[in-house]
Amino acid sequence: MSLAGASFGRIPRETTRALMTGVGSAGSTVGLLDGAINLGFAGIEKRLARPDPTLVGYIVALVGAYHTSVDTPRNLRRAASRFNELGRPEVAAYLEERAREETGHDRLALKDLRALGVPAERLVASFVPEGIKPLCKRFDDLCVQDYPMGCIGYSYCLERIAALKQETDIEKVRAMCPPDVDATRFLRSHSSLGSEAAHVEETIEFVASLPANDRIRVVQETYESALILAEGYNHELLKSEAQMLEELEQALGEALPFRHSSYPLHGEKRGALPAA
Ligand SMILES: [Fe+2]
Ligand SMILES: [Fe+2]
Repeated sequence: MSLAGASFGRIPRETTRALMTGVGSAGSTVGLLDGAINLGFAGIEKRLARPDPTLVGYIVALVGAYHTSVDTPRNLRRAASRFNELGRPEVAAYLEERAREETGHDRLALKDLRALGVPAERLVASFVPEGIKPLCKRFDDLCVQDYPMGCIGYSYCLERIAALKQETDIEKVRAMCPPDVDATRFLRSHSSLGSEAAHVEETIEFVASLPANDRIRVVQETYESALILAEGYNHELLKSEAQMLEELEQALGEALPFRHSSYPLHGEKRGALPAA
């Protein structure tokens, strides 16, 4: 999951008037989950920074994408083993499947960074974007809870937002990159063109099959995660390109190398893509 290169789309809103008690359906579940995301972003949407995307911002987003992906399989397996202990093998099986699907996504972000001439391993080892830290912590915490149902809400939130990204968002990133460089592996895979759309569908179906108290917990956490995500977005987006470049270079302890002198990272353009 990730927000690298994300654009904000409006998720259709539905409202509910009564607390859920009965059997779930895909229609009501998607309405509740997407309503929770809209609500989480509602408070911040008006003051959301929307600067032009830049290569420096994209590098920060890829570092964020790495950090929100690297521990996902391990965390999901931890939650799965807890559900096995709790006698909920169907939840465990769902989480184990998700852990398998998410395996290797951190490497896509590393490959993209390398393609841009960035010393990827060294950068991710020394730098976590500020806006991403609370998000990583949230997922870590959710997956070790005694009843870690909330981790499904967190995952839904991030994947649903990633699945809003369209081909045009990927094209914008391609246009910023040198012509012979493919630095959109992570972005493509975490967009409407990649696996995220299918992950979202599967999650909706699974959540709809859960008892009402579990569905409520998933929706609550979708909202909480959306709040954290929205704050993180804005934190990174409000930085100038110079600020972001300074943070990256401070972490590396050297100037960022780049492969193509026609794409200088020290350009004059300001602003950033949403951080992952
Ligand atoms: Fe992923
Ligand atoms: Fe995914």
